[in-house]
Amino acid sequence: SRSSCLVHNKIPMDSGNIMDLFHRGRPVRVCAPMVRYSKLAFRCLVRRYDCDVCFTPMIVAADFMRSAKARDSEFTTNKTDRPLIVQFAAKDAQTLADAACVVSPFSDGVDLNCGCPQR
Ligand SMILES: Cc1cc2nc3c(=O)[nH]c(=O)nc-3n(C[C@H](O)[C@H](O)[C@H](O)COP(=O)(O)O)c2cc1C
Repeated sequence: SRSSCLVHNKIPMDSGNIMDLFHRGRPVRVCAPMVRYSKLAFRCLVRRYDCDVCFTPMIVAADFMRSAKARDSEFTTNKTDRPLIVQFAAKDAQTLADAACVVSPFSDGVDLNCGCPQR
């Protein structure tokens, strides 16, 4: 239901091996990361239209690791929000690794954004 999409409880969920999607003999439908758009409500919507994998918007890993407030505003999910790839921007490996550890119970992978201009 719509309301369940808006519940921001972070419940770890095992969605199986994401790589299995590539062995089903049909194209994998992926919703690319979009800053300001690919948030939880939008991901819920595209999943209703048979999107197989969703990305979060780009999240700046250093900000994400700096405060719980930033984590709660930048990353919300729920138990239906899988398979999910979390995209980070980072300039050092440790910060990226730390951010990946935080989201690992709630996601199926992380992506490093190498395309957007960032300091
Ligand atoms: C509004 C908007 C925001 C985007 N934000 C991101 C982003 O956060 N990270 C990223 O890697 N690409 C971002 N992109 C690029 C998209 O993920 C995608 O690669 C691009 O739109 C090309 O795909 P398309 O031809 O299906 O539109 C963004 C694109 C749009 C239109």
